[in-house]
Amino acid sequence: MTKITAAITAVGKYVPDYILSNKELETMVETNDEWITTRTGIKERRILKGENKGTSFLAIEAAKDLIAKKNLDPKEIDLLILATATPDMQAASTGAFVASEIGATNAFSFDLESACSSFLYGMSVAARYIESRKYKKVLVIGSDMNSSMIDYKDRTTCIIFGDGAGAALFEPNFDGLGVVDEYLRTDGAGREFLNVAAGGSIRPTTQETLDNDLHFVRQDGRTVFKNAVFNMADVCLKVLEKNQLKKEDIQWLAAHQANKRIIEATANRLDLAEDKVMMNIQNYGNTTSATLPLLLADYENQLKKGDKIIFAAFGGGFSWGALYLTWAYN
Ligand code: UT7
Repeated sequence: MTKITAAITAVGKYVPDYILSNKELETMVETNDEWITTRTGIKERRILKGENKGTSFLAIEAAKDLIAKKNLDPKEIDLLILATATPDMQAASTGAFVASEIGATNAFSFDLESACSSFLYGMSVAARYIESRKYKKVLVIGSDMNSSMIDYKDRTTCIIFGDGAGAALFEPNFDGLGVVDEYLRTDGAGREFLNVAAGGSIRPTTQETLDNDLHFVRQDGRTVFKNAVFNMADVCLKVLEKNQLKKEDIQWLAAHQANKRIIEATANRLDLAEDKVMMNIQNYGNTTSATLPLLLADYENQLKKGDKIIFAAFGGGFSWGALYLTWAYN
């Protein structure tokens, strides 16, 4: 039987109009543009405003962008994976709502949550469904409305996160292009260092949790930083070694955009030149599940068929991994 691989055949994106700049943050918390820029590389992030708008709104817009660019009939989509850490609501699948709203009426859908690694894991899952030969069009959307869980009085988190969504369509390829290999990891010991303490099953919402501001994301930035730097580089090196890839063979590093210094440290460990490192953190900050597809959408014009891309992510859980993919179109 001919070998089948899962190739990305289209990408799309959406970011909200409202720009939260470093200057505006200076009026909200004790911080300054110089600190934020040198410590994180972030200049601005996008914030979704408006009542009754959440993660699904961002995801729907990103999917519509892809559908229009690809001239795709949404009825042809077999599966929609909604990678997110900020679902619209508990219990109801956000993916199911998104699929219905974009007209993907023949698709089944589910949410995939693994913090900042959600989209990377979603790519891996999409590849397995395509390789099974049962599904021909799998849409993976990374979407997060991080502003819904940010304390805009906490300068250690509010400067980092932003809202956004990106989408990638996976289809079968018979020339070996697409997902080649991956190395995915988790370590539950990490959950104490990055989480939202209340509102989940372990600590449901009460007046006390509300009074104590326990519904916001909190992190031990230094610990997360150290683990991210070591582990992202480690899994990338493992994937390179396993696939006998030298740094000259790699055209692009697409790393989760959490902190410019983490991305640069990963690139340095791989000895990759700056022009091979995709970077848009300056425009959007950390958009959790959306960082990787937003990179693809922003760099799409520069990507060439056959380009070898190493994806890497690290996030809450801890969860992390690297994935090796060859680009399928010009
Ligand atoms: O997506 C995955 C999850 N997240 C991450 O990967 C984030 C990983 N961590 C980071 O990116 C960095 O740790 C941060 C950006 C969160 C913080 O940067 P840092 O260089 O690790 O700073 P720090 O926490 O070590 O703090 C250094 C100083 C502290 O002051 P003192 O104690 O030295 O006087 C902080 O209070 O900087 C202070 N500080 C700030 N100053 C101005 C912390 N936040 C700010 C701020 N503006 N926004």
